Amino acid sequence: MKDEEYIKMAKKASEKAYAPYSGIKVGAVLVSENGKIFEGCNIENASFGLTVCAERVALLKAVSEGTKNFSKIAIVSGKQDAAPCGACRQTLAEFSPEMTVIWEKNGKVIFRTLRELLPEIFKIKNS
Ligand code: THU
Repeated sequence: MKDEEYIKMAKKASEKAYAPYSGIKVGAVLVSENGKIFEGCNIENASFGLTVCAERVALLKAVSEGTKNFSKIAIVSGKQDAAPCGACRQTLAEFSPEMTVIWEKNGKVIFRTLRELLPEIFKIKNS
């Protein structure tokens, strides 16, 4: 599938967002190394700190279903044009720091590796 297709899918996923407080609807499409697709949207809460970002919803769905290796994630956040937040970068980096992160900015599709977005990743060494 073309990367622009993943952006389209992420737009569709963002329609499912539950974002009554910020009004910012985010959609994410997480693609595994063997081509499986997991969609996520942000889910807000009246206790604001409990809000979960679209990227982490997609990741938690994937890992809980047995998939842990990812090649890319496409993110759409309406007119915010935003890259993933720091918490999502760290959570995704736990699994696949070399994945490609794709988002739109000023009508252009941007591609970065997760490692570019989060250099010097915090990891725990195995003893
Ligand atoms: N949000 C995401 O879904 N992903 C991010 O990477 C950053 C922020 C959501 C959380 C909240 O519902 C809204 O965007 C505003 O912060």
